[in-house]
Amino acid sequence: MNILVTGAAGFIGSNFVYYMLEKHPEDRIVALDALTYAGNLETLEEALENKNFKFIKGDIYDKKHVFEIFREEKPDIVVNFAAETHVDRSIEDPGIFVRTNVGGTQVLLDAATEFGVTRFHQIGTDEVYGDLPLDRPDLFFKEDMPLKASSPYSASKASADLLTMAYHRTYGLPVTISRCSNNYGPYQFPEKLIPLVIYRAENDESIPVYGTGDNVRDWLYVMDHCSAIDLIMRDGRDGEIYNIGGHNERNNITVVRRILEYLGKPESLITFVTDRKGHDKRYAIDPEKTKKELGWEPETRFEDGIGMTIDWYLEHRSWWEHIVSGDYQNYYQKMYGDR
Ligand code: NAD
Ligand code: DAU
Repeated sequence: MNILVTGAAGFIGSNFVYYMLEKHPEDRIVALDALTYAGNLETLEEALENKNFKFIKGDIYDKKHVFEIFREEKPDIVVNFAAETHVDRSIEDPGIFVRTNVGGTQVLLDAATEFGVTRFHQIGTDEVYGDLPLDRPDLFFKEDMPLKASSPYSASKASADLLTMAYHRTYGLPVTISRCSNNYGPYQFPEKLIPLVIYRAENDESIPVYGTGDNVRDWLYVMDHCSAIDLIMRDGRDGEIYNIGGHNERNNITVVRRILEYLGKPESLITFVTDRKGHDKRYAIDPEKTKKELGWEPETRFEDGIGMTIDWYLEHRSWWEHIVSGDYQNYYQKMYGDR
């Protein structure tokens, strides 16, 4: 089976590549990534040595290139991770989010419709449901809830989901969508909360906590997300949406304190800063449908996963130091410049 994985040089896409190469060595993975500031080819260094893996630098919004790739590579399955993903950046500059997340997804859907695939899997997010109040712990996101995005990022992801469903209904494209809660684990870009806290604490720098730190996120170890995607894209029903989450709710200040404690760093590093505009209060996934239909269960408890993640960042200092210094952006030129 040929599987086209877009956004494969990012956090979850790269973890998914490694998951797939190990779990399904018979499949061939073609990775497409524009290597934006968030894409890092160093992350795929080991995968690049695998004969069943091919990397293509390209933009999902570039219709000509995307169609060429479909013509040549003939993917059976497409998994679309490629996106602008940072909420704070979307508040500063919404345009690129619409271009990539909506326009880019539409180009991929067009190509999949034109060339035919057995499955187009769209990677969605729980942020499309909006947020839940802090004082109603009995409420959870369910697949049939109305879309109520808060940020330009989540609005662009909601639009991509709507387009994906429209291509299913109108053109009969076999699609599935998964909507996952916050991921954490190796290779996450250090602008996101957990890696940002780890690297700043390691450097004895202040830790910015938005507002009062009481916002709640539902954390899932990235490999548990990957195993769910693998099941959904193969065995999920056409035209269905599947929530992914593991009931691991924590407020931000608890997560920050846990990391500082693990690293033996003082809480005096915590600095409360002006809140994010439109900051969603609480995310909490109800994953029952995915568990019931596909037998999926997360394997990693937050307490174990956060330790594994911190250890990974400590053992891979050069990976994030290259990012923080900007060096990683020269890597593609070094590897591919003369090819
Ligand atoms: P990321 O920012 O780490 O990676 C995104 C990747 O997409 C990068 O490699 C980047 O170079 C690539 N990309 C961006 N624009 C592109 C374009 N125009 N063409 C080709 N490639 C492009 O993001 P992530 O956290 O790995 O998220 C991956 C997907 O999962 C996204 O669709 C995101 O919405 C979704 N998601 C993320 C989380 C999370 O907690 N991180 C949770 C649920 C869903
Ligand atoms: O829920 C899934 C989503 O999770 C994904 O769709 C997004 O792509 C991903 O970025 C993530 O969005 P969040 O906004 O929840 O993640 P972030 O790491 O940016 O922030 C997590 C929480 O921590 C949020 O409440 C804001 C807060 N925060 C974040 C940063 C970067 C801080 O308090 N300080 C910070 O410096």
